[in-house]
Parts: sequence; structure tokens; C-alpha cells
Amino acid sequence: MKGAFITFEGVEGAGKTSRSRALCKSLSDLGFEVMPTREPGGTPVSERIRDILLDTGLVTPPACELMLFLAARAANVEQMVTPWLLKGAVVLGDRFTDATLAYQAFGRGLARGDVETACAFAAAGIVPDLTVLLDLDPELGLERHASAGRTPDRMEEAGAPFHRRVREGYLQLSRENPDRFMVLDGKLPPERLDDLILRRTLQVLREKNGGLVR
Ligand SMILES: Nc1ncnc2c1ncn2[C@@H]1O[C@H](COP(=O)(O)OP(=O)(O)O)[C@@H](O)[C@H]1O
Ligand SMILES: [Mg+2]
Repeated sequence: MKGAFITFEGVEGAGKTSRSRALCKSLSDLGFEVMPTREPGGTPVSERIRDILLDTGLVTPPACELMLFLAARAANVEQMVTPWLLKGAVVLGDRFTDATLAYQAFGRGLARGDVETACAFAAAGIVPDLTVLLDLDPELGLERHASAGRTPDRMEEAGAPFHRRVREGYLQLSRENPDRFMVLDGKLPPERLDDLILRRTLQVLREKNGGLVR
């Protein structure tokens, strides 16, 4: 069995974490080995970097922020994503390279070419087999988090124009990579989204394994 790397992308509150958990459960129930990861985080060192990144009390200029995200990703790729893919697992990513392009290039305004070069280095050749983009008005996403009682972290506090650029950035990336991206309306009911995501994931797994999956 060849593994696959499925990433979830979208603005804050779009549903990445809930939808990736649902996919994790469905695939596990079907007998697949699934390894969920999150960004930034996923390994002890990247969880420590996550705490720095989300601290509202720290000033992290855009280039510093980029490097911290990529430092966390490099550890996640080396210690989690690559070894689990080699074992044939389905690895789920709650954010990956597309998030860095959307947030640090489109959102913060760092030069896209520079961000791409740095991302390629951190990802060590790992490109998702499928990227689920949950598209949502960022205002609605932030409202979802607020009504769930979550206090905004540093990225969430960045302001409405920033989050609108991030959303547009994601849509631009999806237009540039139509085969890899599955763009879904984040306002659809969870069960409908989960069904669409599971079907597409199974299709990707079949394609990678010459039609032979459980
Ligand atoms: N399709 C959906 N429709 C309505 N609410 C949703 C949907 N998906 C997720 N939610 C809710 O929105 C909130 C944010 O979801 P979450 O998965 O944490 O988003 P993200 O990880 O993208 O920030 C949660 O309270 C979740 O239950
Ligand atoms: Mg989340």
C-alpha cells in the first residue's frame, strides 16, 4: 500500500481541524493506517515553536514568522510526514506549504518567490497528493471560533483585510493547481463535506495504488 498525504487548508474557522478529524475517523474505520499532523506542531520541537508563534505578547516580524513556521515544518516533515508516508500510512496535514504562501506571501506581503524557495527547502520534496481547501468568508470563520469560546491567537488577531488576502491567496493557489486542489464551500453541512472529502481521498488512494485499495 502506497501512502498519501492529504492537506486541509483555509482561513481560521473554515473547518480544517473538524473535517480532518472526521476523515481520520472514517479512514481508520475502513482499516487504513492514518496519521494526523497539525501545523505548526506535530513534534516536540515544533510544538514549542508553535507556542512562540501563537503568543500574542511577542513581536515576530514577517521574515521571522516565516522562518519559525518553516522550522516547525522541517521537523514535522522529517520526523512525522516522511516516515509515515514510507510506512504506507495516509498522513493528514492540518495546513502545509499552501498556508505559508497564503499567509506569509499573500497575507503579509513577503515576496512570493522567496517564500516558495524557503517552503521547498522545508518540505524536502513533499507535495500533498490532495489539498482540501475549505473556502469561507474569514469574518464567518472568526465568528465560528468566537462562538465556540476560543480566544483569538496572534494570527487570528491580524485584522480583516489580512484575512481577506489570505482567502484570495488560497483561491489563487487552487486555480494554479487545479488537479491537486479540491475546493469546497466551507458553509456546506459537515456531513456533506465529510462525504465529498472521503470519496475524493479514496479516489486518490486508488489512483496511487493501481486501483487496489481496501
Ligand atoms: N461545515 C461547517 N458548518 C458549520 N460549522 C462548522 C463547519 N465545520 C466546522 N464548523 C465549526 O466551526 C468551528 C471552527 O472549526 P475548526 O475545524 O476548528 O476550523 P479551523 O480548524 O479551520 O480553524 C468549530 O466550532 C466547528 O465545530
Ligand atoms: Mg484548526
